Amino acid sequence: ALKLAIIGGGSSYTPELVEGVLKRLDRLPVKEIHFVDVEAGKEKLDIIAHLAQRMIDKVGADIKLTASMDRKAAIAGADFVMTQFRVGGLQARANDERIPLKYDVIGQETTGPGGFAKALRTIPVILGICKDIEALAPNAWMLNFTNPAGLVTEAVQKYSKVKTIGLCNVPVSMTMMIAEMMACQSDELTLEYAGLNHLLWAHRAWLNGEDITAQVLEKVGDGANFSMKNIFEEPWEPEFLQALGAIPCPYHRYFYQTEAMLAEEKASAEQGGTRAEQVMVTEQELFELYQNPELDEKPEQLEQRGGAYYSDASLNLVDAIYNNRNTINVVNTRNNGTMHFLPDDAVIECSAVVGSAGARPIGVGKLGPAVTGLIHQVKAYEQLTVEAAVHGDYDSALMALVNNPLVPDITKAKAILDDILRTNYDYLPQF
Ligand code: NAD
Ligand code: G6P
Ligand code: MN
Repeated sequence: ALKLAIIGGGSSYTPELVEGVLKRLDRLPVKEIHFVDVEAGKEKLDIIAHLAQRMIDKVGADIKLTASMDRKAAIAGADFVMTQFRVGGLQARANDERIPLKYDVIGQETTGPGGFAKALRTIPVILGICKDIEALAPNAWMLNFTNPAGLVTEAVQKYSKVKTIGLCNVPVSMTMMIAEMMACQSDELTLEYAGLNHLLWAHRAWLNGEDITAQVLEKVGDGANFSMKNIFEEPWEPEFLQALGAIPCPYHRYFYQTEAMLAEEKASAEQGGTRAEQVMVTEQELFELYQNPELDEKPEQLEQRGGAYYSDASLNLVDAIYNNRNTINVVNTRNNGTMHFLPDDAVIECSAVVGSAGARPIGVGKLGPAVTGLIHQVKAYEQLTVEAAVHGDYDSALMALVNNPLVPDITKAKAILDDILRTNYDYLPQF
């Protein structure tokens, strides 16, 4: 029997996760689910717990559901600990998005200085969760969804003994969009994914033994749908895509089309609000729906959030590990030589064989300087951010921002850093 602990149970994504469990009861004998949240999320947690109970009752599943503030009780004896929390809530995210904009720098939840600030708030909390897992469920797997997912997973990998895999819905979404372009089923495609979280390329795409990379790039350059709900769909330059020769992820727009993305962010910050401010409205509508006692399934409106297909990504991982399936999933895991130019203990995002021994990355061969340059630079930023977040070290924090490709110079790096540290004072015990 399986016990799942969900940290950040009050998330509006939780019904998606519950649906993922209920769809797989033939393969996953889940008997217990424990949602945990903090005082600030109590009301949301309560609503989610009632909806989840209705979903469970609808299919008559034999699952004991608990919702509480007691993290230790949730973790004790868990087989999988799934982390999907947001320290400081959406208000903190709105600050992350707005601070960099003051300095004409991309303000985004996961990349650039916004993702850096989120990492500083998140890493001390997740390492506390790891302490509980080490003590109360040392054999459990932690599946981390909390952003910036790759960077946070790297901190867990380096500073705890917990077995961990980080995950993101971008690769699943890319695969589905490519299947749509090629008018095929997603399981007919083979996509050679490698990079970092939100800096992921499909280096080669195959369909029926044919290399279709150039065809996909042509369709993307032609304006085929290739984005996420939370990312402005700035068109791609066809000549650039052909020259790159690899399929970029939607987040690459921030790196390759920085000026256009910055202009779009500034315009929406002035009109409808930053993404966090828009999500606050969507979230309120979602929780309104969730409270309807007639509702006993995940409502369609959840698709307005960027995290679509989250449940498939995470429950496929649980299935692969628990049933030792050795199936291919795209995960965030230890490099271990896969990308030879990165340290072994760097966390990378790539296609991997996943079974009860965890994730073993699939090599992608030699990558050219057009992609290794950017990966290297972003990884340097991530390494420095992990050190800054763990040790509360100002110098590492400054060097992290200086090395982030979205931050143009040291004057801005320092001003943004000081602003972030001031604004997040309550959430940064390490500084
Ligand atoms: P949210 O603001 O709804 O937060 C989820 C819950 O976490 C809230 O109920 C909040 O009270 C709770 N929380 C805050 N601090 C906590 C703590 N210390 N312990 C336990 N719970 C705590 O956030 P959301 O929009 O549902 O997103 C949740 C997380 O998932 C975020 O970190 C987000 O970035 C991430 N996310 C990741 C992906 C991905 O691709 N990896 C996709 C979507 C969302
Ligand atoms: C995508 C990303 C996530 C991110 C989410 C934001 O799915 O993969 O990492 O958190 O979008 O969506 P939101 O609706 O919160 O803006
Ligand atoms: Mn993601």
